[in-house]
Formats: sequence, C-alpha cells, structure tokens
Amino acid sequence: MMTTTPVHIPVLLNEVLEALPLPPAARILDLTLGLGGHAEALLRRCDGDSRYAGVDRDPEARALAQERLGHDPRLAVFASAHEEVFRQPDFQAWKALHAPQGFDAILADLGVSTLQLKSASRGFSFREQGPLDMRMDTDSGMTALEWIQRQDEGTLAYALKTYGEERLAKLIARSILTALHEGRLATTLDLAEAVYKVIPREPAKRKGHADPATRTFQAIRIAVNGELERLAATLGEAIQALRPGGRLAVISFHSLEDRIVKQTFRRLAGIYDGPGRFAPEPLPKLITLIHPGGQEPSEAELAANPPSRSARLRVAERLPQ
Ligand SMILES: C[S@@+](CC[C@H](N)C(=O)[O-])C[C@H]1O[C@@H](n2cnc3c(N)ncnc32)[C@H](O)[C@@H]1O
Repeated sequence: MMTTTPVHIPVLLNEVLEALPLPPAARILDLTLGLGGHAEALLRRCDGDSRYAGVDRDPEARALAQERLGHDPRLAVFASAHEEVFRQPDFQAWKALHAPQGFDAILADLGVSTLQLKSASRGFSFREQGPLDMRMDTDSGMTALEWIQRQDEGTLAYALKTYGEERLAKLIARSILTALHEGRLATTLDLAEAVYKVIPREPAKRKGHADPATRTFQAIRIAVNGELERLAATLGEAIQALRPGGRLAVISFHSLEDRIVKQTFRRLAGIYDGPGRFAPEPLPKLITLIHPGGQEPSEAELAANPPSRSARLRVAERLPQ
C-alpha cells in the first residue's frame, strides 16, 4: 500500500535496540514518539503481551505515527509534553494499569523530527518560505513571531547566545528587531535575511560552513518550545519511573542538551563534578551509566543519514533500591 508518511530515519537505532532491555511482556515508554521510527523497530522485537506508551506534543506527528504503526493494540498514544506527562491523569491511569512496577525501557529522542524540519508551514526551516511559527505543539503556545515581538534587544541577544551559542548575538538581535519594527519580519526567510545582514551567507557557503542562520533558528526554536527548561527534571522523573534494571536512553542533538543529560545522569549516579571542598552531601545513587562517554553514530550511519552527525546517545540503568 502507498503511504504518504514523510520519512524520518530513526537515529542510533542499532545502539538503542542494543541498549534497551526488551523482556517478555516488556513495558516501554517513548517520550518523543515522533513519526514512530524507533517505536516500529522496538515493537517488532516485543511480544504480544508488551505495552508501549508513546508521547508527543505534536498532533501531526501523533497521527502519522499511529498510521505508520497500524494502530497497534499494544500502543497507547498520549498528547502531552514529556515534561508534563508524568502528572497527566490519563497517563497515570494507564501506567497504574499496565506498568505498575515501572518501565523496562524509556526512550527520549530529543529535538525536532524531519517532518517538522521539512514542512515549510511549520516554520522551522530557514531554507523554506513559511510562517514564523516553530511550535512543536501547534495547538497551544506562542509562535516564534509572537515570541520575538515580546523581546527587547537584551533578552533576544541572551537567548541567541545561550540557546544558539551565537557569538554575534547582539548584532543579530538588533538586526531582527529592526526588521520587525520596519515591518519586514513575517516569514522564515525574513528571519534568515535579518541574520544574513550581519553574517553574509555566501562566504560561509563557499567555505562549506553551516548556514549562518542555523544557530539563530535553533535558539529561537528552543526558546519558543521551552526545550531545555525542564529537561533535567523530566530525566529525573523518567529514572523514577523505571523498574530496577530498567534503562533510560536519551538522544540529544546539540551540546546544550547533551550537557544537561550528562550532568543529570552523573548527579543521579552519585558522581559529583564540582570543586571538592564544596561537595554537598552525596545523593543516593539511583543509576549506573552505560557507556559513560555516550555513543555517536557509526561511520556507516553518518554516510547513510548525514543529519545524524550531531546525535549522541546516553544510557542509564536504574539500580535496585
Ligand atoms: C527527533 S523526533 C523523534 C523521532 C522518533 N524517535 C522517530 O524515530 O520517529 C522528536 C519528537 O519529539 C517531539 N518533542 C520534542 N519536544 C517534546 C516535548 N517536550 N514533549 C513531547 N514531545 C516532544 C517532537 O514533536 C518530535 O516529534
């Protein structure tokens, strides 16, 4: 049968399949269902008594994932941000019924999906003309344009520097707000143009560098979706939701995200990174780290799926209490 579902190649798939325990009647929580790529591969390896909870804040992704997975009876899909799902009554009721002892495997494949990046109408891409939206949950929250309208030069520059690691944050913030006030900021290409006024596109392109708008788009997307704000707390809640011996696998796509995952895991593993004489009381050790340095895509994966180049997988195993 023909399908119109856009292709999103799941990253680090072999590594995820190797890392996550899938016993008979496995209980799996996927905090970022996306287009169901990892879910499809994981469900294929699970028996009929297994149960799979898939969470995504994007209505379009949820619908496409369900279509792709053929409305598998083992799958329950939850419309929620992952930072809220542990408090959502529907999810709590499902977990009490299907996973009262906790999950064997939890996956968080952070960031945006190919569907979001490639759909011009979602406003994530600086290559396509689209509205300045960038919301993952298209049913609520501020669009990127509404968010920019609420910033002054200082707060916008701070976001570009913090979430985009943009060295020219101040100049770009000024250029974006000038375009806004002159009525030249309505679309993704307008935003990209405001960046190119500060960092011209051509030299970067000639030298094979990333497009100069990449960091600004990343920063605004992270701010609009509040992507980093509760990540550490969510990881802590996910660890609490594992059964002893269960594993949490997290794939991050940029250094800010990965730093939060790494530091949270190290803290929950009882490893203190700060200066010795200020060391606080050690926390109870909840997890052990599998591959402490994290895993990156293999050469073969990089060749087959170049966008996987910035992905890093970290895995933690819940210790018996
Ligand atoms: C990289 S994609 C996941 C792809 C998926 N693993 C697959 O193989 O198809 C990330 C997904 O997470 C969702 N997402 C991002 N942040 C989220 C959040 N805070 N809560 C829930 N979903 C989120 C996005 O909407 C997107 O669909």
